[in-house]
Amino acid sequence: MENLQVQEQLEKIGFIDEKIDPTLKLVDEINRLKKEKNAVILSHYYVEGELQDIADFVGDSLQLAQAAAATEAEMIVFVGVHFMAETAKIINPSKKVILPDLKAGCSLAESAPAEKFAAFKQKYPDHQVISYINCTADLKTMTDVVCTSSNAVKIVESFPKDAKLIFAPDKNLGNYINSQTGREMVLWDGACMVHEKYSVEKIIELMDAHPDAEFIAHPECEKPVLLLAKHIGSTSSLLNYVQQSPATKFIVATESGILHQMKKACPDKIFIPAPSNDSTCACNDCSYMKLNSLQKLYICMKHELPEVSLPKEVIDKARVPIERMLEISK
Ligand code: 13P
Ligand code: SF4
Repeated sequence: MENLQVQEQLEKIGFIDEKIDPTLKLVDEINRLKKEKNAVILSHYYVEGELQDIADFVGDSLQLAQAAAATEAEMIVFVGVHFMAETAKIINPSKKVILPDLKAGCSLAESAPAEKFAAFKQKYPDHQVISYINCTADLKTMTDVVCTSSNAVKIVESFPKDAKLIFAPDKNLGNYINSQTGREMVLWDGACMVHEKYSVEKIIELMDAHPDAEFIAHPECEKPVLLLAKHIGSTSSLLNYVQQSPATKFIVATESGILHQMKKACPDKIFIPAPSNDSTCACNDCSYMKLNSLQKLYICMKHELPEVSLPKEVIDKARVPIERMLEISK
């Protein structure tokens, strides 16, 4: 059954709206369930701070995939989005992988439907495919090597200079890697709804108002935004940068969840979320990541549902390009 259908079934039987005893201390209960069920909680930097704090491991997409591959726990609880949990299942298929809300998708993954990508790929029969990890398992089955924003340049450079390459699904990251490596990869026309919303004009205004601040950005942002940035990198790279930079103020163009770790690591520094072009929305929040909550995490661990499952043939095929990535990233 498709994941969304599973989620709808769970909603119908009242699983999602399960009443929780208001006196229950959710953090204590989650920690108790974790021990009882020999589970590991993996959280991405974009989820709410309290969900990062309860995790056994918090990290970027690459670090989370590495943690999923290395865990000895019996159950992986993925507090992030669906493609991340799916990747954990593909790398470690004997483990049970659960995700607090199966509707936690990703606009980038959705921007590359497998059938459309298969038709696109057919137009370039002599090209190899590098896929950003933010894609579906089906797309990974059509991929030669997966990458994340942490290792994308290294992965691309592991191919000979004259290799013909397709990069999917993020055109912004693809463009950025082309500019860094001098390659001319063919790009799939996908983008992230959060990282495409930044306003260059408003960022410039903010930089003028805070001349002592450094502007840093995730490579999923559009080129005009990246051109303004002092540092460009994955979530973990941005986090490392603010710790080692002598600057004490930063304007940050990526999902606002990362600010939790930045403030924890540098309590005396100031972090300003970069402004988006729409002042009426919480555009710096990934609405998918923010579907996770402490309540849903507790219910999910209690019932060990919803579980991420995939056909064996998809797991077997999609594992190959992920394992190649993990090998190259060592
Ligand atoms: P990172 O791998 O940099 O954590 O990025 C994940 C992501 O979804 C960015 O939008
Ligand atoms: Fe996907 Fe964008 Fe959310 Fe990252 S921030 S999970 S790329 S929708």
